[in-house]
Amino acid sequence: MVSNSSAMLRHNRVYRTLRAGITVLAAVLRYLTLRVRRFVPGLRPTERSWEKAHGRTGRAIHRLATTMGGAFVKVGQVVGARADVMPPALVEPLRSLHDRVPPRPFSTLRGHVERELGRPLTEVFAHVDEEPIAAASLAQVHRARLKTGEDVVIKVQYPEAQRLFPIDFASLRRAVRAVRWLAGVDLRPLADELATQICLELDFAREADSTERIRAAFAGSTAVRVPQVHRECSSERLLVLEFVEGKALTDIEGLRDAGVDLRKVGVAVAELYATMIFEHGFFHGDPHPGNLMVAPDGTTLVLLDFGLAKELPPGFATGAAAMIVKGMSGDLTGAIAAARSIGFEGTGDPENFRDMVRAMMGDNDRLRSAIEAMRASSMKVPSDFTIIGRAFILLNGLSHRLAPGERLLAGALVKHLAPRVMAAQAAQAAQVAKEAG
Ligand SMILES: Nc1ncnc2c1ncn2[C@@H]1O[C@H](COP(=O)(O)OP(=O)(O)O)[C@@H](O)[C@H]1O
Ligand SMILES: [Mg+2]
Repeated sequence: MVSNSSAMLRHNRVYRTLRAGITVLAAVLRYLTLRVRRFVPGLRPTERSWEKAHGRTGRAIHRLATTMGGAFVKVGQVVGARADVMPPALVEPLRSLHDRVPPRPFSTLRGHVERELGRPLTEVFAHVDEEPIAAASLAQVHRARLKTGEDVVIKVQYPEAQRLFPIDFASLRRAVRAVRWLAGVDLRPLADELATQICLELDFAREADSTERIRAAFAGSTAVRVPQVHRECSSERLLVLEFVEGKALTDIEGLRDAGVDLRKVGVAVAELYATMIFEHGFFHGDPHPGNLMVAPDGTTLVLLDFGLAKELPPGFATGAAAMIVKGMSGDLTGAIAAARSIGFEGTGDPENFRDMVRAMMGDNDRLRSAIEAMRASSMKVPSDFTIIGRAFILLNGLSHRLAPGERLLAGALVKHLAPRVMAAQAAQAAQVAKEAG
């Protein structure tokens, strides 16, 4: 259990900044020493020395994340998920960070929940489970029952999260500067992306709106369920949602044992995303397997966690569709023109661009490196597209786990995109004919 005084210390601004600062400084000294040793005969660092240093850095970030929580957990998770760009020895200690965030006893959060509710807990809830069903970096989730009898979950944001985030972020920026200076690697875009993401996730009022919007968009559907928001007891830092039964896609074995057709689930997920992105223009931006469940009927999908839901600008979907279809069919000029129409800028290498479009269709390693390559070659990738790209990376990963060897996302996208692109072309042709006649 976390004692209150230790929590006070961990949430103290100066202490946090110092702890993070010491971690960064230690890492800087570690690598600086190795770099200096390169010039000293007999002390030249070996491959093994670098590996050891990376391992120490990884463990130090892990310690910082597990003792300090908050934004540092996010940082650790993001670094831990980037085996493509980070040294393996550094990534290894961070892999476990996804499921090892120690939960807090509800008693330490009760006062905060009552402040957010604006009334005593017992006025709203008949019962709250002490044990959380999930604990993450910014919030934890408890099952509960309303006094009116409905089964719900309470998603409670940690009371210090909004206050600590800017402080931790200043530490992160210092770390990013140190990495740039030492290793010449520019992690600023990654850090900016993380900052944007955390800001969105901290805004529970926005999350409530997004949940309701996507719930309404699928109101007639039997394929997808989205929990109802209990607005009357939700706030900017507290969400009370209808409890929805289901098994998360993190538990592939459990789903298989329950007789669920995993391939069918994969197709349904891909269809769901294609519909949200290309038909609704408003989509759930975080298809992490923990945010998708299969209902007890074995087919209905349950969609959770709308913190990263995103509205796409008008025309974006049509432009992106044209870009993808033209890129896939080899019309590189057409694809690049479509890309410009949705905010891609600059003169990147067209080869990189084609690689990115192909990679989007199911090759995550190539997708990551293609997006990086485009960035490096001075082509500006619009931020809306970055979010779609991130969703595609997660979806391709999911598809791979549900139906190995198949590219379910590509199939669903083509099915949704081809009619769109054809309709746009027909409209264009009609316009040309009208002008000519
Ligand atoms: N409405 C709900 N019904 C049932 N379980 C839920 C519900 N909302 C959240 N959960 C559980 O809590 C977990 C965390 O909730 P989520 O909204 O994804 O929070 P986070 O933003 O911390 O990931 C989910 O993965 C799921 O297991
Ligand atoms: Mg989640």
